[in-house]
Amino acid sequence: MPALVLLGAQWGDEGKGKATDLLGGSVDYVVRYQGGNNAGHTVVVGDQKYALHLLPSGILTPECTPVIGNGVVVDPSVLFSELNGLNERGVDTSKLLISGNAHIITPYNVTVDKVTERFLGKRKIGTTGRGIGPTYADKINRVGIRVQDLYDESILTQKVEAALDGKNQLLTKVFNRRAIEAGQVVEELLTYAERLRPYVADTVLVLNKALDENKVVLFEGGQGTLLDIDHGTYPFVTSSNPTAGGACTGAGVGPTKISRVIGILKAYTTRVGSGPFPTELFDADGDALRRIGGERGVTTGRDRRCGWFDAVIARYATRVNGLTDFFLTKLDVLTGWDEIPVCVAYEIDGKRVEELPYSQTDFHHAKPIYETLPGWSEDITKAKSFSDLPKNAQAYVRALEDMSGAPISAIGVGPGRDETIEINSFIS
Ligand code: GDP
Ligand code: IMO
Ligand code: MG
Repeated sequence: MPALVLLGAQWGDEGKGKATDLLGGSVDYVVRYQGGNNAGHTVVVGDQKYALHLLPSGILTPECTPVIGNGVVVDPSVLFSELNGLNERGVDTSKLLISGNAHIITPYNVTVDKVTERFLGKRKIGTTGRGIGPTYADKINRVGIRVQDLYDESILTQKVEAALDGKNQLLTKVFNRRAIEAGQVVEELLTYAERLRPYVADTVLVLNKALDENKVVLFEGGQGTLLDIDHGTYPFVTSSNPTAGGACTGAGVGPTKISRVIGILKAYTTRVGSGPFPTELFDADGDALRRIGGERGVTTGRDRRCGWFDAVIARYATRVNGLTDFFLTKLDVLTGWDEIPVCVAYEIDGKRVEELPYSQTDFHHAKPIYETLPGWSEDITKAKSFSDLPKNAQAYVRALEDMSGAPISAIGVGPGRDETIEINSFIS
């Protein structure tokens, strides 16, 4: 059984942490391949709740080796505080591996993220303010700092100076801020070097050797398909590729090794930050989804925007990721509605449109066309098999499956590890 990818099929926060943790017991490696501490993945084990930002959710499974791949951007101070927090709770983090090619989020990247957003005013993206976009921009501009640079002070100094040359012009002349001193940044970055050293590895080699030995590798996406820099609702996206191809570039594993791509799909839709969202609700139903679903950002604490399920988006996620299965989460949150609207297509300038329009203008004009499905009132949180679900809940799941273009292999009926209905095994 080679590699599996597990990724968000909507705008993030679909329940990737829970799904990864669930599979963690059956896999040898869990790999983050993109994003950074903009992610907030919740894992609930018994009465313990963990919020992971940068570390792969596999860190909570002792048999599993957690890996931070080359495609991830790493803020060392966040990494250490996350490791400390887990160690204090008795979690062994010593198996962690970090790619020497992963890029470092420097303090100036965080500053640039915040001032850029402020400057954009009401056109802002609503970023998490963690320096993600500016760090990826530096990577693409070839002025990024990589983990391996921490082990050569002279190279590090040259690189930080090169990165700051242009930025200081911008900070002082455009943003009216004080210049950042290269020497101070280098000094701070060097304080992380020794503590990081035991984790740094050639993760591409490690993962490919593991696959050659028939070990099971699970790639855990951050964010979601519609936040992808290429395939999402640009410019209201993150700056990396959460879609399936990102696992290949972000970990150095060829596409021929990947046999399964699992899309995590919430039974309704949420989004944090700015950008179009056709099924967004501004009424009591939206408030109820937010309240019952606990829809508040794990990273920034912002209320999530909530709306009904959008099958157009789910079909799009199936297509751009080549999804083999869905893991449907939070079905329990929909308990209690008499009827549940599901968006099956859009109306754009008077025309019915079945697929996600590539044009930003069209997507901004998209109005949801709903079909209404009958709801259920029975508590489903104890359901262990599909047949335990009320008939209308079964019909809701089957309808979503038909509309979304891939089989639903598992259903979440609560946040806990055991609150899951497994229909098909993901690892066989
Ligand atoms: P991620 O970023 O995709 O890992 O998702 P988040 O952790 O940001 O948000 C998902 C939230 O839903 C977390 O609070 C999870 O504990 C919770 N959750 C996950 N699956 C389920 C489910 O099936 N039912 C319920 N009620 N909560 C769930
Ligand atoms: P997980 O992994 C939901 C959103 C931000 C903003 C946009 C760009 O928990 O699903 P960034 O800081 O990445 O430059 O912000 O992307 N965003 C997320 N939304 N879940 C996430 O991660 C997100 N990570 C970034 O709100 O709209
Ligand atoms: Mg999240």
